Amino acid sequence: SAVSIRHQSYNQLALHSNQSREIGELLILIWTWPFGEPFPLNTCLSVYGISGCNLTTDRSVYNHADAVIIHHYDVMRSKHLPPKESRPHYQRWIWFNIEPPIVTENLNMLDNLMNMTMTYRHDSDIVIPYGYLKPINTPQTFMIPTKTKLVAWVVSMWYPGTRRAAYYEDLKKYIQIDVYGKHHTPLGWEDFYSTISQYKFYLAFENCNHKDYITEKLWGNAFGMGAVPVVLGAPRENYERYMPSDSFIHVDDFSSPKELAEFLINLDKDDLRYKQYFNWRSQYAPVREVGWDRHYCKACRALHQAQGYQVIPSIAKWFLS
Ligand SMILES: *[C@@H]1O[C@H](CO)[C@@H](O)[C@H](O)[C@H]1NC(C)=O
Ligand SMILES: *[C@@H]1O[C@H](CO)[C@@H](O)[C@H](O)[C@H]1NC(C)=O
Repeated sequence: SAVSIRHQSYNQLALHSNQSREIGELLILIWTWPFGEPFPLNTCLSVYGISGCNLTTDRSVYNHADAVIIHHYDVMRSKHLPPKESRPHYQRWIWFNIEPPIVTENLNMLDNLMNMTMTYRHDSDIVIPYGYLKPINTPQTFMIPTKTKLVAWVVSMWYPGTRRAAYYEDLKKYIQIDVYGKHHTPLGWEDFYSTISQYKFYLAFENCNHKDYITEKLWGNAFGMGAVPVVLGAPRENYERYMPSDSFIHVDDFSSPKELAEFLINLDKDDLRYKQYFNWRSQYAPVREVGWDRHYCKACRALHQAQGYQVIPSIAKWFLS
C-alpha cells in the first residue's frame, strides 16, 4: 500500500542519511492555504526544478502523508491542528510562520508536536527569508535613480505603542517625511517605483525587534526602489549578517531621532558621501523571495535533503528567544 511504501522510503532516508538521494515522491499535506490564499500546487518541478513533490490540501491523505505543513497564522485562533492520535510515526510536522512575534498568538499550543521549523530565522530547519543579496558575476555600474525628494515611508498597519511609531513621531519634528499608505497619501502598486525611487531615503522600520526579521520593507521598498534604507528593528549586527554595513543607515547609530535627522539633512547635501551607500551594488543585486509555491517547494526539497532536524520541544521558547 501507499503507506508501507512511503514508510519504507522514510526509513531509507533515515538509514542512508549521508548519501545524496533522489528517492520517491513525498506526499506533503498543506494543512491550510496560507491566509486562505490558494496557489498552484504543481510548480515545484516546472518552475523551481525541485522533483519528487506531491503537494496537496486534501486532508483525506493525512494518514499516509510524509509531512504536514502547518501555517501558524491560520490555526493560532481556531487551534485546529491535525489529529495527534492518527499521526503516522514517520510523518513530520512542519511549523510554518513568517510573521513576527507581535502578531503570533498561542504558540504554546504547539508544544511537543513539531519536527521542523520553517521561518525567516536563520536557525530554522527551512529558512524562508523575505529577500537576500545575490552576488553579481560581472561587476556592474548601478544607475542611482534621479532623486528629487528626501524621506519616504509607506505604512499600512500603524501598530501604535511600538518603538517605530514613537520614533517616527519624534523624527518628523526634525525632518520632512512623506508618508504613504492606508491612512495617508494613497499609493498604488503601479506608481510605487516612480514615486519611491525619487526619495533618497526610505524608512524601513520593522514593527518589532526580532532576530532576522528583515522584511520586504527593506528588500523591496528600499533596495528594490533604489532608495537608501533607514532601518529600525533588529540590531545592526543582525542586519550586517545579510548585507554590507554601508548599504543602510541604522537608527541605533544615533543617540536620538534629532541626531538622525541632522545626519540625513547633511547627507542630502553631500552627493559623494550619499553615493557611497550604493557601492555594494556593483557586486550584489537585491532579490525578493516571493510566492507561496516557492516556499512550499523549498520545504519539499528540504524534506528530501534533511540529514536530520532539530528537536524543538517548545516552539514558543525557541521563537521568542
Ligand atoms: C499525489 O498523492 C495523491 C494521494 O496519494 C494521489 O492521489 C495523487 O495521484 C498524487 N499525485 C501525483 C501527481 O502523483
Ligand atoms: C516528531 O515530533 C514528535 C513530537 O516531538 C515526535 O513524537 C515524533 O516522533 C517526531 N516524528 C518524527 C518523524 O521525527
